[in-house]
Amino acid sequence: MDDIVSLVRPEIYAMRPYSSARVEAEQAVRIHLDANENPYPPYPGGPEQEGLNRYPEPQPPSLLRRFAEIYGLPVAQLFLSRGADEAIDLLVRAFCAAGRDGILITPPTFVMYETAAAIQGASVTEVPLLAGSYQLDTEAMLAACDADPGIKLVFVCSPNNPTANLMDRAAVLRLAERLRGRAIVLVDELYLDYSGRPSLACDIADHPNLVVVRSLSKEYSLAGERCGITLAHPEVVGVLRRIMPPYPLTVTAIRAIGAAVSPAGLAYGRRNIDRIVAERDRVRHALAQLPTVIEVLPSDANFLLFRTDDPQRLCAALAAQGIRLRDRSNVIDGGVRLSIGTPEENDDLLRALKLHG
Ligand SMILES: Cc1ncc(COP(=O)(O)O)c(C=O)c1O
Repeated sequence: MDDIVSLVRPEIYAMRPYSSARVEAEQAVRIHLDANENPYPPYPGGPEQEGLNRYPEPQPPSLLRRFAEIYGLPVAQLFLSRGADEAIDLLVRAFCAAGRDGILITPPTFVMYETAAAIQGASVTEVPLLAGSYQLDTEAMLAACDADPGIKLVFVCSPNNPTANLMDRAAVLRLAERLRGRAIVLVDELYLDYSGRPSLACDIADHPNLVVVRSLSKEYSLAGERCGITLAHPEVVGVLRRIMPPYPLTVTAIRAIGAAVSPAGLAYGRRNIDRIVAERDRVRHALAQLPTVIEVLPSDANFLLFRTDDPQRLCAALAAQGIRLRDRSNVIDGGVRLSIGTPEENDDLLRALKLHG
């Protein structure tokens, strides 16, 4: 526990956390007169709007219990947020003092890490992924942390966005081991279920500075409802609860999340993941046959990164047909990122690519 406490900004422990009406209500409530809500239902009224006039539970116990079963960790090791984006932002704010501390990232990787650091006024140290394999350069990362003790958060995206590959598990654990008491290793596993590999969450017991971030956006079709799950040592979870917004999840999000993670919801999600993985392999094979495509990287995620001679022209030609891909040539030479759609959408895309020549 001391390993974590010494890394948290002291101001976070010194402040008094905001305590919402919902947190303070200890007994079952018959009449809510404590949160200045409006007692009438919103317009137009109807069963699906029930409860919308009330503030939600900040960390709904029923969802926490369900996620505890799914991830095999106690409730005290789980934190729910408005998407993984919010968890990333809160973690940067909890561990990095503005103007003093910083994060380490491994480009090319998810851009939000850098954005969250910039908002917080934290420095950003870059240690690029190894050329060709896009794996972590662990020795260079450790050397960077040795050179700057202000680095408090080391981001590892696995599978990585945009290169789509998983990071070597042993390398991540080596980092966590060597940085224990010095930095948090935050593993972003947003796309993990597309890899079929186990989470690093089960290693938190041996590595208290390991924090894993998951989400319902990519694996359970709930990007629009915004739900992120942080799996961490109870001390980290306690810190996140101190600084979280009073009500991170909306009433409708809580309902949608409950359905998505019910046994039937998980089975439905699993079937869709399998379908997407099958499509990913089909699209990858088809892309590789196209003369304009130089290379398609292997993928452990629900997207593919391919390289082409003229990414701008290709993305513009597809955009003109209403198909939007992500030009990533600013970070990978000729790189374009393509999310796997339904079979019909993928067929449409492949037809358009063939026409493009
Ligand atoms: C690697 C990675 N992490 C985090 C996020 C944010 O996810 P969420 O929708 O849960 O906020 C994304 C979104 O694209 C992502 O690609």
